[in-house]
Amino acid sequence: MTLNDATKLRTWPEYTVMPRCAQVRHDDPLWNGSFYATRRKFCADCGGVSDREQHTQIEAAARLLRAGGVVAFPTETVYGLGADATNPEAVRKIFEIKGRPAGHPLIVHIADVALLDQWAREIPEAARRLAERFWPGPLTLILLRRSHVSDAVTGGQDTVGLRVPDHPVALALLRELGPEKALAAPSANRFGRISPTTAAHVRAELAEGVDMVLDGGPCRVGLESTIVSFVGATPLLLRPGGISVAALEAVLGERIETPGAQPTIRVSGSLSSHYAPVTPLEVLPAESLQRRSRELVKRGQRVAVLGLTSPCQDSPHLLRLQMPAEAAAYAHGLYSALRQLDGARFDFILAEAPPVGVEWQAVHDRLRRAATLYCPTEIQPQEKTHEEIS
Ligand code: TXA
Ligand code: MG
Repeated sequence: MTLNDATKLRTWPEYTVMPRCAQVRHDDPLWNGSFYATRRKFCADCGGVSDREQHTQIEAAARLLRAGGVVAFPTETVYGLGADATNPEAVRKIFEIKGRPAGHPLIVHIADVALLDQWAREIPEAARRLAERFWPGPLTLILLRRSHVSDAVTGGQDTVGLRVPDHPVALALLRELGPEKALAAPSANRFGRISPTTAAHVRAELAEGVDMVLDGGPCRVGLESTIVSFVGATPLLLRPGGISVAALEAVLGERIETPGAQPTIRVSGSLSSHYAPVTPLEVLPAESLQRRSRELVKRGQRVAVLGLTSPCQDSPHLLRLQMPAEAAAYAHGLYSALRQLDGARFDFILAEAPPVGVEWQAVHDRLRRAATLYCPTEIQPQEKTHEEIS
């Protein structure tokens, strides 16, 4: 079974991509109009909604949001759980629905780079340069907040995370809300769980409390935005994501600092970790993975393998999914694959450690956070070296 076979189970029958309309950045290297296909019709390029039904849904979503409701919406990275960022009561509902502890700041999604100064102050020139180059896109900037930005959104900090999402439905919704408004939104999953990359994932996980789920098809990037803080003296990477650090540094002409080196081996403890499937996930290099899968199968355990090069055969106790060899394609399919395997009730998921390299940074980050055992090179796992929750 390949990842493609597996994901077919989750895709919708009728996709419609509208012909390109004249307005937008078809030269963007991240662009691929086909990912913008959905069941309903809207322009594949500019985010203009061209179908009455979709218009009606977006208008209804905007009405709910203005009335203090919570709406899940698609972005190019993952689905977000949105509320009116100017309404603290509405924002608080997000924390209840997600089971997220209060005080964790939320990203504010805005419609256009021109609105940046409305939400942030003392914006460094370098941050502006990144915003102008990469927005709309999978980049979140942490900046000093304007005084009107509520504590419910920022977790009481003097900073705010901002981004312009690159998805036609998200952009149409933000435009419908108008320039005074923005969407405070975390990923639309329960706290600590895998981010959703389809509307069906959101519905399956957050049935209660969400007033509406807007369906914009599968997310193009498939994992979350890159977060860079411009609050200190030099730019600091807070989370690798949809845009590589190398691409950002090329535009900045300076290094982006990365906080302390990550441990090379991680065994999670009792704290709930982020981005995690329910099934224990172990990340191992090819040879160790083969040994471990044989050992588990011998013990009667049901094992799923996210394979790259390791050749293990399917058997009644072992299912192997072939993961893409290219980093962006791997990232695109990872959460969906983990969700699917979680649903299939395996005893263990073993992931073959992907190659090391700057383009794999975000994938390694998510695998490391999701894993009960993360040991990407051939060394013996040691005692617990690190516990993390972020
Ligand atoms: O791609 C994404 O970023 C998705 C889509 C929906 O936009 N959103 C997302 O949100 O991943 P969330 O809440 O699941 O993760 C955002 C991360 C959190 O770890 C949060 O603590 C951090 O961004 N964050 C938000 N505002 C911050 C701030 N002012 N300072 C530091 N970290 C911040
Ligand atoms: Mg999240």
